[in-house]
Amino acid sequence: MSAQFIAVPAFDLIVFGGTGDLAMRKILPGLYHRHCDGQLPPESRIIGAARSALNRDAFVARVREALTQFVAAADLDAARVDSYLRRIDYVAVDVTADAGWEALAERLAETAERVRVFYLATAPNLFGPICQRLAGSGVLTPKTRVVLEKPLGHDLASAHAINDAVGAVFEEHQIFRIDHYLGKETVQNLMALRFANSLFESLWNRTAIDHVQITVAETIGVEGRAAYYDGAGALRDMVQNHLLQLLCLVAMEPPAAFTADAVRDEKLKVLRALTQISNGSLASCAARGQYQAGAIGGQPVPGYLEELGGANASNTETFVALKAEVANWRWAGVPFYMRTGKRMASRLSEIVVQFKTIPHSIFGEGAGEISPNRLIIRLQPDEGVKLMLMSKDPGPGGMRLKPVPLNLSFAETFQVPFPDAYERLLLDVIRGNPTLFMRKDEVEAAWTWIEPILDAWSRSQTTPKAYTAGSWGPSDAQALMARDNRSWFEDAA
Ligand SMILES: NC(=O)c1ccc[n+]([C@@H]2O[C@H](COP(=O)([O-])OP(=O)(O)OC[C@H]3O[C@@H](n4cnc5c(N)ncnc54)[C@H](OP(=O)(O)O)[C@@H]3O)[C@@H](O)[C@H]2O)c1
Repeated sequence: MSAQFIAVPAFDLIVFGGTGDLAMRKILPGLYHRHCDGQLPPESRIIGAARSALNRDAFVARVREALTQFVAAADLDAARVDSYLRRIDYVAVDVTADAGWEALAERLAETAERVRVFYLATAPNLFGPICQRLAGSGVLTPKTRVVLEKPLGHDLASAHAINDAVGAVFEEHQIFRIDHYLGKETVQNLMALRFANSLFESLWNRTAIDHVQITVAETIGVEGRAAYYDGAGALRDMVQNHLLQLLCLVAMEPPAAFTADAVRDEKLKVLRALTQISNGSLASCAARGQYQAGAIGGQPVPGYLEELGGANASNTETFVALKAEVANWRWAGVPFYMRTGKRMASRLSEIVVQFKTIPHSIFGEGAGEISPNRLIIRLQPDEGVKLMLMSKDPGPGGMRLKPVPLNLSFAETFQVPFPDAYERLLLDVIRGNPTLFMRKDEVEAAWTWIEPILDAWSRSQTTPKAYTAGSWGPSDAQALMARDNRSWFEDAA
């Protein structure tokens, strides 16, 4: 089976923050892959924009270096790299000052009929100023779109302020708030699984499902982003966006159509149905931790405070586990447990939908324990879906039962490489399809749920519990589930 690549309309993509880590690691290599697959019209251009006083050649040299670093050697073809780099241009512009905007406008003057995308890969406090300057520079056309990177603010008020500042210049349909988790193939497959098969829908509720677990575990620490991370923490950095988006896709009602507003309306209803965690429920519904020195894959790794440069103290959580409740008819009484952390035992993102246990076993004790069925939707490392079923252990020796996976490995089934989430989402922006992007009201509803947890933590005068790097988080995370007589599914551990 081969992948189908549908070309997009001609475009100019301007990346503010073009010299930054995100641009060099994800955006520019991602577009290289789409270039190689022939999806980018020949005249389309990619223009880096940042303060650094570089000429085009110097920027192109940086992009070439980034491709060598972030594209697999097998995909680096000299002729293709050269033809890709011919699309690349650069404009030096400090987005907080006047210089550079005229040069940008000149660079775009001839191509007003093309789709024009401004990708804001900068700190979010620059989003408003950039949009204002764009409006004042005469570069906005009816086919202009703007992409906003996370984090979309620090709390509800700052998210609201960013949305207002960007919304003063762009219409909502022109604004693409990116959450790259939504671009992952398995996440879209979750929608296919739910809404293109009749098998699951009748089971997808409180009658058949015991609970849902969502895990996003990283083995990396704060890398070069200590200053940002220490001001954010796991709840803001991961739960407010990625984990809540995954929860929405599991919990939402079937939209009437796979269109942007129909899907986002349903996700919004889920966010608004989440029971608020507050002072009273904090201890039973939330656990937070901070890693100490340990080892991952046999390699020693430093603790969080050491990674901060030897700080004496920080109350920033590098791990969080939550028990969420979606208070509606479908999900009442079905907990959604979420956990995410840095420096965990392994790199793993997955959703586990655990069905109820059988009401009565007809098998004797010798058959062994009967595990509940689980649908495991794995986002990384190896994307795919597994349905855990009980089966008879083959051979003589009586009826012995064991759980076996019905494995839907996409890599094996489709035999095509999956495009990186950024690649797919970038092309959706160019096509003008916002289905997999967050709407303003969704972002704000997510902050509305997150903010009281942050407030309750700061009022509680507790601190994050220590956990050893290379573990699955503090014991509080296990206790959070043990109180409900449940445990985290640690297939990968
Ligand atoms: N890196 C990631 O993997 C990642 C993932 C998700 C989200 N993000 C978010 O994306 C944003 C960018 O992250 P990053 O890691 O790429 O940061 P970074 O490496 O520090 O890059 C920041 C970029 O912004 C430019 N810049 C800063 N001030 C500017 C100004 N006044 N005018 C014009 N350009 C300016 C910098 O270029 P000059 O210094 O040349 O001006 C640089 O290109 C951050 O908000 C980050 O949280 C990053």
